[in-house]
Amino acid sequence: MAEINASIGTDKRLWRQDIAGSRAHVTMLGAQGIVAGDDVAAILAGLDTIEAEYAAGGLVENPALEDIHMHVETRLAELIGPAAGRLHTARSRNDQVATDFRLWVRAACAEVDTGLTALTSALLTRADEHADTIMPGFTHLQVAQPVTLGHHLLAYVEMLARDRSRFADAAARMNECPLGAAALAGTSFPIDRAMTAAALGFARPTANSLDSVSDRDFALDYLAAAAMAGLHLSRLAEEIIIWASQPYGFVTLPDAWSTGSSIMPQKRNPDAAELVRAKAGQLLAAFQHLGVIMKGLPLAYSKDMQDDKAPVFAAHDTLGLCLAAMTGMVETLVFNKAPMRAAAASGFATATDLADWLVRAANVPFRQAHDITGRAVKAAEAKGIMLDGLSDEDLTAIDARITPAVRSVLSVEASVASRTSHGGTAPANVRAAIAAARTRL
Ligand code: ARG
Repeated sequence: MAEINASIGTDKRLWRQDIAGSRAHVTMLGAQGIVAGDDVAAILAGLDTIEAEYAAGGLVENPALEDIHMHVETRLAELIGPAAGRLHTARSRNDQVATDFRLWVRAACAEVDTGLTALTSALLTRADEHADTIMPGFTHLQVAQPVTLGHHLLAYVEMLARDRSRFADAAARMNECPLGAAALAGTSFPIDRAMTAAALGFARPTANSLDSVSDRDFALDYLAAAAMAGLHLSRLAEEIIIWASQPYGFVTLPDAWSTGSSIMPQKRNPDAAELVRAKAGQLLAAFQHLGVIMKGLPLAYSKDMQDDKAPVFAAHDTLGLCLAAMTGMVETLVFNKAPMRAAAASGFATATDLADWLVRAANVPFRQAHDITGRAVKAAEAKGIMLDGLSDEDLTAIDARITPAVRSVLSVEASVASRTSHGGTAPANVRAAIAAARTRL
């Protein structure tokens, strides 16, 4: 029973929040005349001592004391005697743990924001360096149209901006204080919930005592945002892995972010990127883990909810590690311009530019321009050359409306420079988007 019942091994991580919650609670009990001033002072002094002890030497786990709340309260009784027993007036471990965990998850959201911001800054720096570096843009992982590397990196900046907004949104939504809901029904003591809420930096007290002790939406909100962030990091990791593969050669991983092989001396394996990709599995599963714990629970508290912390703590540690590793990789990746440009010029990536030119310069309906361009691609393919390798005669033979003026759009540089529509890949757009993203940051 002791082994299955105890949670101290996990919830000891809440000790700072538990002490903060107790300080706010007992201060309020004093202000409301529920506990006498000298007892309040003794309790606050005891809490200071416990905080100093835990900060200096950690916490000695005693499974018989179940959880962090009982550890703090028992230590308080050792330090100050029976007055310690007054701390738990008008409070239950149910509202206590809900408060502690909310405080922890709220702080976790802020920590993730710092990590997301650092990675965003690294991406912006690299995007700025490569605002006009040409690379192939892909659909179906087939070369589609040339894009700029800066533009490609900025796609991840957008994803991370949405991630930041999800964590900010979750933090704002969870910013209500459950303390004072007591076991489930509220209390008959004249407590001041607004006072404890304010002392702990919450916007307001929660509205319904049953919901207060049985809600773990705040943890699920965190995990949902973490799952999505992990998914984004995994996609970037996957691209780094592909780009680092020799047939691509778009990037070289620095020694610090690659590993060798025990048998093949030439290997530089992208292990860190592969592990970021793998750890997204844990982040996606953590939401599932807690969601399945919660989905069948009747109101209000059930002990199942004690198992809420492990997936959140583990996900938070993993997400922090992934963000740090990804930031390090993005900062130090060596981008190889020549293979990227060569790949961008392959696969008739400027075919769309030829079709668009026919529409613009010769007023050809787009569908017809698409057919004509298809014939030009076949002709180039038959000769084993790129579109811009076709002679003027070749082009005129395909369609009389194709004049030598078309050459201005057939190069990859001309192609990307022309993509100036809102959100497009032109270097000028990329520079403006970087400036806008820096302002948002
Ligand atoms: N350790 C418990 C948890 O994390 C604290 C709440 C216990 N409440 C109870 N009624 N047993 O959920």
